[in-house]
Amino acid sequence: MNYLLKPFYFLDTMISIIGAGNVGSSAAFNILRFRISDVVLIDIVEDLAHGEALDMIQSAPAIEFDGKIEGTNDFSAMEGSEIVIIIAGEGRKQGITRLDLMNKNAKIVRSVVKEVVRFAPNCKLMIVTNPVDVMTYIAYKESGFERNRVFGMGNILDTLRFRSYIAMELEVSREDIRALVIGEHGDSMVPLVNYTSVSGIPITDLLTKGQIKKIVNLTRTSGSDVIKLKGSTTYAPAAVIAIMSDAIIRGRNRVMGVSTYLQGEYGFSDVSIGVPVILGRNGIERILELELRPETKKRFEKSVLIIKDSIKKLK
Ligand code: 2OP
Repeated sequence: MNYLLKPFYFLDTMISIIGAGNVGSSAAFNILRFRISDVVLIDIVEDLAHGEALDMIQSAPAIEFDGKIEGTNDFSAMEGSEIVIIIAGEGRKQGITRLDLMNKNAKIVRSVVKEVVRFAPNCKLMIVTNPVDVMTYIAYKESGFERNRVFGMGNILDTLRFRSYIAMELEVSREDIRALVIGEHGDSMVPLVNYTSVSGIPITDLLTKGQIKKIVNLTRTSGSDVIKLKGSTTYAPAAVIAIMSDAIIRGRNRVMGVSTYLQGEYGFSDVSIGVPVILGRNGIERILELELRPETKKRFEKSVLIIKDSIKKLK
């Protein structure tokens, strides 16, 4: 059955989400209710995407969105998509690092990318499947797309978590915290403390070294902390997917950390890792190369080497 909602169609862009689990469905719902785009939700599990789409449609009169949502297990439905988001694969579980998931998910991502190349060759390809930096690398290589069109969601999620903890510590609005996290979306992530401010006030003026260290550590374990409690993360990654989609669909040129294939930037090549970029209509409009402090540079290099090492272990 096809639950394509036609009568109220007014958005002229389409985003396809591959993987209708918690994150994929919540991301679809955010994209609809923030009126960013129509959505096609695809999953190989029979009826799952259909059911999610139908559930969302039934909420539309209350939330007042008119976008279309289609739930299907037919990959050809992604045809014409401006963005394809790959979330398919196994999620992280307690005690399992993102890198442990690698080879299992690599297989899935490779096969989904083939479908993307077939049905949506002009899309921007956003990777969410973990370990996201390695999966972004695979998607870039497999797709043959220009590198501005293949990127991974990870750092901006780490950044949101970093911002949340700073706001909690200072008891100020989360909105006023500006921050950046780069590197692996994983244990070796690099929160950039000297680029973090509260409405322009450096956090080093407001927090002690001890407080900052505590927050950085909390940020590093934040994903696993949620997984320990409820088995998976949902709302935060789903919110970030919507923010990134909005930046692309509306050409907002937002500055955020995104996993990107490097070709000499930051002194590295042939690796996908989180760096600050301008995200807009064409995907990655520009990579921002910062002059990192020696200590930060070392951490970033360590993070790159961890990913490079994983790439070497890919089967
Ligand atoms: C997260 O950190 C699952 O990588 C995802 O929430």
